[in-house]
Amino acid sequence: MKNSVITLGQFIIDRQEEIHDAKGAFSDIFRAIGLAAKIVNRDVRKAGLVDILGEHGSTNVQGEDVKKLDVIANTIFKNHIEQTGEVCAVISEEEDDVYWCKDSHEAKYILCMDPLDGSSNIDVNASIGTIFSLYKRRDMNRDCSLDDILRPGKEIVAAGYVIYGSSTMLVYSSGNGVNGFTLDDSIHEFCLSHPNIKIPETRKIFSVNEGNLHDFDQKIQDYIHKCKQHKLSARYIGSLIADFHRNLLKGGIYMYPATEKAPNGKLRLLYECIPMAFLIENAGGKATDGKQRILDIQPEKLHQRTPLFVGSSKMVDEIGY
Ligand code: AHG
Ligand code: MN
Ligand code: MN
Repeated sequence: MKNSVITLGQFIIDRQEEIHDAKGAFSDIFRAIGLAAKIVNRDVRKAGLVDILGEHGSTNVQGEDVKKLDVIANTIFKNHIEQTGEVCAVISEEEDDVYWCKDSHEAKYILCMDPLDGSSNIDVNASIGTIFSLYKRRDMNRDCSLDDILRPGKEIVAAGYVIYGSSTMLVYSSGNGVNGFTLDDSIHEFCLSHPNIKIPETRKIFSVNEGNLHDFDQKIQDYIHKCKQHKLSARYIGSLIADFHRNLLKGGIYMYPATEKAPNGKLRLLYECIPMAFLIENAGGKATDGKQRILDIQPEKLHQRTPLFVGSSKMVDEIGY
């Protein structure tokens, strides 16, 4: 039996030099993400017991405003990140514009996040998550601007997610492998449980909302048909993080293609697709929009959408460009 554990905090400190961040900004940011994740985890776990379910803007029995868990998670992550003083801007699914952090002239990092992904699953007790990525500012001699933010995913320095599932896990990469940490409730720490995750090569699972099948390109319809001919397992939770996490560990492909109504698909480039693409490439897989590598796309808007094909490299290759 192992008698010592490696916590997320210790792991980041040990690896700090790899990311040329000797001053510890990176570990401060990860400490904040880890703490925010524990607080959101607590709120997710008691979601059925208190008035945090339901629509933002509605009123609870006490006549108070009900805050949707997405909005609560956004505030928790944003506040903890801002407190570090190491992040100058936050881009969030829940914020229309860039949130510029206070007193952050010296801050080197930019955080993009989907504070709660798969939120339609909260009411039915299925897994949900938080997605994040970090860019480093280009030039500290001028104020941080949109120019520092709208950059291709190949320029991010780290990405990760927290999955609030049957257990809570934080999975991240800073460009040198992917590591997973499971929250040990008894000591309130994320402990290294899945070192150096590699996505299996084998074709096993395909994940797509087949309700939209007839709206997909013929090429995608043919591919889905092929998955069935090969008797692959169809698995789709409708929560990107949960579908991605399962496929990362078991091998498979997750697809959110374009449709006629939604020519750019549904998922957001900056805080859903880029972090997933960075993680999958670091785990030996691939991610494309069907035409090009996700990490090569030059973002033009904060909330830009893109089709996404992500998973085992052979399967993503089969979709072709
Ligand atoms: P969010 O909850 O952050 O809005 O994201 C929902 C996304 C993603 O998690 C999931 O894979 C996808 O929506 C599911 O969409 P469909 O219901 O259209 O399949
Ligand atoms: Mn989402
Ligand atoms: Mn969301």
